[in-house]
Amino acid sequence: MDIMKLFGKSKEVDYSLDSENIPQHIAIIMDGNGRWAKKRQLPRSLGHRAGGEALRDVIETAAVIGLKYLTIYAFSTENWSRPQDEVSSIMQLLVEYLKKEAKELHKNNVKIITIGDLSRLPRDLQQEVEKVKELTKDNTGLRVNIALNYGGRDELVRAFKKISSEIVAGNRTTDEINEELIANYLDTAEIPEPELLIRTSGECRLSNFMIWQLSYTEFWFTDCYWPDFKGKDLVEAIQDYQNRERRFGKV
Ligand code: FPP
Repeated sequence: MDIMKLFGKSKEVDYSLDSENIPQHIAIIMDGNGRWAKKRQLPRSLGHRAGGEALRDVIETAAVIGLKYLTIYAFSTENWSRPQDEVSSIMQLLVEYLKKEAKELHKNNVKIITIGDLSRLPRDLQQEVEKVKELTKDNTGLRVNIALNYGGRDELVRAFKKISSEIVAGNRTTDEINEELIANYLDTAEIPEPELLIRTSGECRLSNFMIWQLSYTEFWFTDCYWPDFKGKDLVEAIQDYQNRERRFGKV
């Protein structure tokens, strides 16, 4: 893979990756936009905007590496409790981002998908999400999965409700409930579990992100604030992942 083309040849830094062991799916908790802005005495909204810029570089690198799925935690079910003006500015940024990036993403064969309960999102954001999904639906490259009004617990609650209503309707029995069935009712039904989770900004917690799907995922934490995270950091995380031994509870 032509990673060098992206970063330029460097003697000091090794960007080589084992192409036999590239994760299919990486999930990212993009944290630290607010602190990045505070450090520069800027409003938090500009931190989120800078976060959007960082995302562009990471998507580009992920596509070159040949990643199949990149899931990004853009807005959680808990983020609604932030001050109203911050929530509005994030919603507005998401609309703008999708409007601005749709063509380029499509040109790069990226397919946009989402997880989370979109029904609570502002109408214009729902419309923009539908537009970009429709535009990119036949693309075969990187799938960028945006978690929007997403919470791992909320996803499980919604899945259990769907399963129970099928039982009540007589279409299923409780004996059929197993891990595979539950997984098939999650928002990620069609998506493999992430092999690697990245969280930026020095926080080491899950914050209700993909709690079912991350059971055997490798975690990689960095102190870097999300707006400073670049494609080369993604490569570094994958290099670290490639040096790990995954045992899945076995010896
Ligand atoms: C965390 O920073 C980030 C979020 C709450 C999510 C919003 C992320 C973006 C808008 C990035 C761009 C994404 C897209 C799809 C355009 P924080 O506010 O929690 O930072 P802090 O912990 O330093 O306060």
